[in-house]
Amino acid sequence: MYNCYCLFISLFYYISLVHADEDNWIFPDGFLIGAATSAYQIEGAWNTSDKGESVWDRFTHADSGRIEDGSNGDVAADSFHRYKEDVQLLKQLGVDFYRFSLSWTRILPTGYANVISKVGIKYYHDLLDELEKNDIKPFVTIYHWDHPQLFQDMGGWASEAMVDLFGDYARVVFKEYGHRVKFFFTINEPDVICETGYYLGIKAPGLQLGRYGQYVCAHNLLKAHARAYHIYNEEFRAQQKGKIGIVIHSHYYYSKYGNDTVSEDVAWQFAFGKYAHPIFSKEGDYPDSIKRRIAENSKFEGLLRSRLPTFSREWVDYIKGTSDVLGFNHYNSYNVEPILGSNKTIYENDDGLVYTHDPKWPKTPTSWLRIVPSGLLDNLRKIKDNYGDIEVYITENGIADTGELTDTQRMGYLYSYMKAMLTAIKTFGCNVKAYTVWSLLDNFEWQNGYKERYGLFHVDFTDENRTRSPKKSVPWLTNVIKTRNLQPPMDGP
Ligand code: NOJ
Repeated sequence: MYNCYCLFISLFYYISLVHADEDNWIFPDGFLIGAATSAYQIEGAWNTSDKGESVWDRFTHADSGRIEDGSNGDVAADSFHRYKEDVQLLKQLGVDFYRFSLSWTRILPTGYANVISKVGIKYYHDLLDELEKNDIKPFVTIYHWDHPQLFQDMGGWASEAMVDLFGDYARVVFKEYGHRVKFFFTINEPDVICETGYYLGIKAPGLQLGRYGQYVCAHNLLKAHARAYHIYNEEFRAQQKGKIGIVIHSHYYYSKYGNDTVSEDVAWQFAFGKYAHPIFSKEGDYPDSIKRRIAENSKFEGLLRSRLPTFSREWVDYIKGTSDVLGFNHYNSYNVEPILGSNKTIYENDDGLVYTHDPKWPKTPTSWLRIVPSGLLDNLRKIKDNYGDIEVYITENGIADTGELTDTQRMGYLYSYMKAMLTAIKTFGCNVKAYTVWSLLDNFEWQNGYKERYGLFHVDFTDENRTRSPKKSVPWLTNVIKTRNLQPPMDGP
């Protein structure tokens, strides 16, 4: 009898635990799920009609050796001609929204706002029509790395002239599309632009300007973002009633040694706080910790001032608070430890850290990307700790495959990262409102060309029709989106 009783109680607990567990994986009411792409990576039609040349057109054409497979985005997934098909893929997935970016030089062929391309403007209106017909909300990124080459010749993001020029472009965008777009993102991943484009030189415009160049780029991007925000706020918000934010990415950083409580924060502030603190903190400006470190290193090297530029009081106030939402891109984590006896000079490493991967973290086809779902949870918690309950939209998350349709690893990755996100929401009260898979379809993965494929849909780049085929993750994800319940993929995570 006693045994029977015990069995009954255990069964009762087991069933309620299973239910509690199942409930945890249901998405909150009103939560939005979508998929993302960017203009240069998918559109092709690089010189159709009056489209102007962008930095990515120049970077790939000038030296194909810069791209792993010698390719470029001239045709890419040909979405300029095949956008209707793409909207059907989104429909098939059942997503709430599509995050795509606008090509600056398609809309403004010369870069300047006085010459507006009819063909360019129409293309995005046609895409928006198609999304509207299919009940899919547009999330529009105004700038995803492809600025006019002409402005690069004037210094690009190393020049403050870009602040006005970007503001002028953004105004055209709001005027043309703001009545039908309720979510705008100004700039995608500023740190990647500055680190890889102006410091490492592996992405367009391919410059190696030292850390000073990288920081000047960051400085101008922050100003340009704020300019676009204020234009929206003052000239359009009252009638258009949308939201506008920036997209910042971060890895998570785990101190390699347990007693080192500093390194992970330093790494995070250098990568993420540099952009988020000026916008989302109460006091604005760069985080004190990075201002101090860079100033000390600069002095040590005999520079007359810090190589991190200073914002005037006016600019601090102008930038502070300029985002209704944080767009957050996340993929990967690193272990960090202080540099000891390294041959790297301070000049190269203001953060004073070495970045490695824990060999236990599963590899993916992308060398910098390991599978560490806790990194998403820890980032979301840290964002809350640093900036309070700001609205977070996860604007990118995903991994690459190498061309196979059986993308078992992707399913496991998306499942485990979405689980980490739901834990952040339900257990830690993080204010996450949306989740976006990168990417809807295989596309031009920057310096890696078409070798790394991030799509939910495979694209045959050897076929002139650029045939799209669903990968194995599509039916699984479609069901998750339909039921709003994060079930594990059949093959297990
Ligand atoms: C972030 C970028 O926004 C996107 O363009 C890129 O393809 C993915 N990361 C994957 O590397």
